[in-house]
Amino acid sequence: MTYRITVNGESHEIAAAPETPLLYVLRNDLGLNGPKFGCGLGQCGACAASVGGKLTRTCAIALRDVGDGPIITLEGLGTPQRPHPLQKAFIDEQAAQCGYCSNGMIMAAKALLDRDPKPSDDEIKDALADQLCRCGTHNRIVSAVRRAALEPVR
Ligand code: FES
Repeated sequence: MTYRITVNGESHEIAAAPETPLLYVLRNDLGLNGPKFGCGLGQCGACAASVGGKLTRTCAIALRDVGDGPIITLEGLGTPQRPHPLQKAFIDEQAAQCGYCSNGMIMAAKALLDRDPKPSDDEIKDALADQLCRCGTHNRIVSAVRRAALEPVR
C-alpha cells in the first residue's frame, strides 16, 4: 500500500504494509531519529510525536490509522541554530543522562505547554508521569519545562 503523510511540513509518499508502526516509517524511511524505540508496546513514551495535533506513541499506531493530519516530531520543533524553548531549556538545565527519554519528555512537555502555557510543578509532573526515565533525571526535566514556560514564544 502507499500512504501520503505530512511530517514536519513536508509531504511524503510511503510504500509500506498497512500495519507498519508509524515509528518505523519516521526512523527508517524518513531518517528522523528523534523518536526512539523503547518498549515498542506503547508504554514508555520514548517514541512520542504529535500526530494530528495529539501526543501519540508512534510505536503503537499503524500507518493505516495515521490519517492525514500533520505529524510533528522532535526535529520539527526547532533547529540547532534556532532551538525550540523546550529544547534549549533541556540543554541549559542538562536535563538528561542517557537522553533516551528526552524525545518523549520534550514532546509531552510541548503538548502540555500548548494547552497550558503556565503550568504548576504538579501539572508538569502529571503531564510527564507516563513518560519513563530510568536515569532519575526527573527534577532537572521539571526544571527545564518550568524554564521553557517562562519563554514568551513557542
Ligand atoms: Fe513507543 Fe515505548 S517505544 S511507547
